[in-house]
Amino acid sequence: MSNATTIAILVGSLRKDSLSRRMAEAAVTLAPQGIQFDFLDIGGLPHYNADLETASPPAEWQALRDRIKASAGVLFVTPEYNRSVPGVLKNAIDVGSRPPGKSAWNGKPCAVISVSPGALGAFGANHHIRASFVSLNMPVMQQPEAYIGSAAGLFDAKGALANDSTREFLSKYMQAFAQWVARHA
Ligand code: FNR
Repeated sequence: MSNATTIAILVGSLRKDSLSRRMAEAAVTLAPQGIQFDFLDIGGLPHYNADLETASPPAEWQALRDRIKASAGVLFVTPEYNRSVPGVLKNAIDVGSRPPGKSAWNGKPCAVISVSPGALGAFGANHHIRASFVSLNMPVMQQPEAYIGSAAGLFDAKGALANDSTREFLSKYMQAFAQWVARHA
């Protein structure tokens, strides 16, 4: 995997028909050429527990940390649970941040797309996760912002993004993010 061109993607939903996952998959297809994407599996990560932080931490933790370190940037695509970040995604953030002084996130440029079937575009999750980026020292792209609401109506029966203005927006968003990552290389 090339450190220069790989962007890790974390999706904050585990379900098969996740709107967030569909949006992440659409974002990948609309991204500029020359970038490869690495979807990180966060569903199988053991819950963070400092007692497991030994010389041999859980293999799933180590794999996540290694893949974040091998990436040039990180894209978070997430729904909102109870006006905040789904626990599975917060756990991945916590796992990647340890052991102290060895956070895999440190300095990685990132961006966040929040997705909801509701009208508010998961604004709460989008802004709660940004609080973690301060502590993690992750430069987050500020503009454009991506709060994608009414998401259930944006896909066709096969799960492909079928809304032209969202496609156009995502394409510009991914272009801006590629530039953001390049600027922090
Ligand atoms: C939700 N949902 C939700 N939606 C929202 O816009 N704001 C919220 O605070 C919440 N809270 C919430 C809590 C829990 C526990 C669940 C399971 C769901 C609805 C949520 O947006 C909807 O289920 C999405 O479809 C979940 O995202 P995926 O799985 O489609 O990516």
